[in-house]
Amino acid sequence: MARLDRNGLVWITGASSGIGRGLALLMAKRGHRVAISARRAESLEEVVKEAEPLKGTLYPVPLDVTDEAQVRAAVDAMESEHGEIALAVLNAGTHIPLDVEDFNTEAFRKLIDVNVMGVVNCLAPIIERMRARKRGHIAVVASVAGYCGLPSAAAYGLTKAGLINMCEALEPELALDGVQLQLVNPGFVRTPLTDKNDFNMPFLMELDAAAAAFYEGLQSDRFEIVFPRRMACAMASLRRLPYRLFFKVTRPMARDIRNKKKGGARSTA
Ligand SMILES: NC(=O)c1ccc[n+]([C@@H]2O[C@H](COP(=O)([O-])OP(=O)(O)OC[C@H]3O[C@@H](n4cnc5c(N)ncnc54)[C@H](OP(=O)(O)O)[C@@H]3O)[C@@H](O)[C@H]2O)c1
Repeated sequence: MARLDRNGLVWITGASSGIGRGLALLMAKRGHRVAISARRAESLEEVVKEAEPLKGTLYPVPLDVTDEAQVRAAVDAMESEHGEIALAVLNAGTHIPLDVEDFNTEAFRKLIDVNVMGVVNCLAPIIERMRARKRGHIAVVASVAGYCGLPSAAAYGLTKAGLINMCEALEPELALDGVQLQLVNPGFVRTPLTDKNDFNMPFLMELDAAAAAFYEGLQSDRFEIVFPRRMACAMASLRRLPYRLFFKVTRPMARDIRNKKKGGARSTA
């Protein structure tokens, strides 16, 4: 099995902000060479600048993960300029809260395109190359929101549950080819994505701690990397409840969301 290779090239998508940016900077601090991708080229340049005094090196590779041809060309260019990708961290993703009153196909299409097809577009050229080399390491960022369905997260949760299922399916097959696949399921981490949330986020983790837990997980043999652990345990327990009890927990959440939207008092039921 592949282990975190100190000399090999690392590729992180979604590295212009949040978790991806935090991990890229931490890896640069530890001396890695990291190609960082996102759509906003100027934000990537800022991250590269921030890493200049650090031991490692960051290379900006702007791209849109929803553009399959662009991703394939970027993987070709990265490998010819910087050497083979030893570790790919497929982290780019987004969230659109969507309650049933606003149910619309557009939000589903966008989230599936970025969160699912964005990962698949990156996986295709990477899997091809790593299987041929019989070595490599891939980490896919999903979410504990993929463990079970929660009110207002029908579209986001669907995409993350899909990634979890996909990784479970791929792991044994990739292991046969000497490629290590890890699934990363964060709970709440303070990033520009969660800064938009106006509700209480249980066990909210600061970015530096999340990046450290992510990096530690990448050095392990564990299939699943979770942080903060308490949030993952809570969500795993919720998933195991019989539906009768499960909906006793989630119905009040739905009522709270509806009340809040109407400007009414939060439910305690
Ligand atoms: N923060 C949390 O609490 C939390 C919890 C569970 C899971 N996650 C997951 O962790 C990942 C990172 O989230 P975050 O909180 O760090 O969010 P964030 O700060 O909003 O970062 C998202 C990153 O993805 C990039 N991105 C979005 N759409 C893209 C596209 N089409 N092509 C290329 N890059 C794209 C963004 O860059 P550009 O806008 O420049 O393209 C940005 O760098 C996501 O997959 C998210 O679902 C986060």
